[in-house]
Amino acid sequence: MAMLQRRTIRSLCVSIFLQFLLLWGVSSAFLPSDNALINCGTADGATVDNRLFLPDEDEADSFRLSAPSSVSLRDGNQPADSSPLYRTARIFTRRSTYGFSIKNKGTHFLRLHFYPFSSQGYNLSAAVFSVSAQGFLLLKDFTVPRGNRIVKEFLINVQTENFDISFGPSYGKPSLAFVNAIEVFSAPADLLLDVARGLGPNEVEAFDGLSRQGLETVYRLNVGGPKVTPFNDSLWRTWTPDNEYLRLPDSAKAISFSGRIKYQKGGASREVAPDSVYRTARQMNSVNISEGHFNVTWRLPVSLGYKYLVRMHFCDIVSLTANELFFNIYINGYLGYKDFDLSAVDVTNQMLAAPYYMDFVVEPDTSGFIYVTIGPSRLSSSSKINAILNGLEIMKMNNSMHSFDGEFSASSVLRSWPRSSTDFWLCSFLAGFAIMSLMVVGFMMISRRRMEMRESLAWSRLPVESKEDNSRYGPSPLSGKLVYY
Ligand SMILES: *[C@@H]1O[C@H](CO)[C@@H](O)[C@H](O)[C@H]1NC(C)=O
Ligand SMILES: *[C@@H]1O[C@H](CO)[C@@H](O)[C@H](O)[C@H]1NC(C)=O
Ligand SMILES: *[C@@H]1O[C@H](CO)[C@@H](O)[C@H](O)[C@H]1NC(C)=O
Ligand SMILES: *[C@@H]1O[C@H](CO)[C@@H](O)[C@H](O)[C@H]1NC(C)=O
Ligand SMILES: *[C@@H]1O[C@H](CO)[C@@H](O)[C@H](O)[C@H]1NC(C)=O
Repeated sequence: MAMLQRRTIRSLCVSIFLQFLLLWGVSSAFLPSDNALINCGTADGATVDNRLFLPDEDEADSFRLSAPSSVSLRDGNQPADSSPLYRTARIFTRRSTYGFSIKNKGTHFLRLHFYPFSSQGYNLSAAVFSVSAQGFLLLKDFTVPRGNRIVKEFLINVQTENFDISFGPSYGKPSLAFVNAIEVFSAPADLLLDVARGLGPNEVEAFDGLSRQGLETVYRLNVGGPKVTPFNDSLWRTWTPDNEYLRLPDSAKAISFSGRIKYQKGGASREVAPDSVYRTARQMNSVNISEGHFNVTWRLPVSLGYKYLVRMHFCDIVSLTANELFFNIYINGYLGYKDFDLSAVDVTNQMLAAPYYMDFVVEPDTSGFIYVTIGPSRLSSSSKINAILNGLEIMKMNNSMHSFDGEFSASSVLRSWPRSSTDFWLCSFLAGFAIMSLMVVGFMMISRRRMEMRESLAWSRLPVESKEDNSRYGPSPLSGKLVYY
């Protein structure tokens, strides 16, 4: 008890100190109104990138764990400088739930951190399990190969005061689910607007209700730039380089900019993407401008059966003056924007180095690729042919089953998970009771029928043998009435 109190006081102190640091030092930093970060399977909090992850063994206001049988596991073999989030895990042998209290409804980030290790006879890379949250099926029969650190990120609009995340082992051996750390925090209000451009065979049409969809991050690329780590991102995201997705490596070259990124009201904010994303880009690699009639294309494999939100980030760090860069934007060959002039969009106010983003909703082509293309516009003067892209995000949208992982509903997967032992006994009892009742009812009916039969036989002496047979094996035993002619 005293231990627990000391720990709680300690985490409280660290938390107050961090809030103070944030308020005082980096006043512009985004402070989420809901902010539950947990280090799972431990009694020790951890501070990572200036954020305090609370231990899930302690009581906390922001979350509670209901796990009928779970174990805290520690990997003693990791180097001391490894991230404390991945040194411990909570493992579940039955369906278990973390419940988060939500103070401010709206879009929330959910990040699940997985790093499988072997300890105390548990082999986490052999775990096969499913995860659901708020009626969405997030992961089904999920496994993490040994040596991989995987962060699964979702954006979910929470309209209730409780946000539950359930973990359940799939059938088979070993019956095991695990998680190393969980983040649930409010997204900034301007991160996800409601409308995007739908692109498809029926030309451009508005896609409404974007903020109500669940989204899973599939790609987040810092085009033409290095990896951006959570430490350097305004929402603790990771942006990876784009090299491997560029279809023709020689078609584009990276460019970087060291000046100030001029965030404009109504345009992309620093939370939409940080400076380090807008400071780098790729542009057309046209050594000979006259030969500049080609496109630059990124090819990204995705799973079929879903729509995707494609967010393209732009910031004109290549032009010397406004209105000299014009280019076309295509996704899967569909024209998304013709003769796009970054300095002409209203929020950039003819300013260079002012960030802007565009949202498209698309389906992959039939072989499971999304092609994102930038290419020259006819409006470009012959000496200024160019096209740029600074950042690219691709997010999977839930399907009609509210799933991100196949045509299954969360409830059907939840039903098939091994339940807690109380549920098991309750179910067995109910099943037993139901069978007993049926037997009693059946017995009563048969005896009643016999009685009725005897009565009617006594009343009328018509041929009965065949009718009696009919009545015994007849089609409507529940009607409970026998009719004799
Ligand atoms: C853990 O499980 C994985 C996947 O089943 C297997 O490849 C690996 O050999 C196992 N490791 C140990 C130490 O048992
Ligand atoms: C953060 O960015 C700065 C400069 O932009 C860089 O020097 C530093 O290495 C980055 N840190 C991490 C952890 O990525
Ligand atoms: C540029 O143009 C010149 C003359 O047309 C040609 O000889 C040269 O190969 C071109 N260079 C490239 C890289 O295409
Ligand atoms: C660029 O790609 C689009 C869409 O596939 C195509 O219509 C256009 O002709 C291409 N432009 C050039 C210069 O290759
Ligand atoms: C995804 O979930 C949202 C929220 O429940 C729902 O409104 C939407 O219809 C779902 N998407 C699809 C494609 O069915």
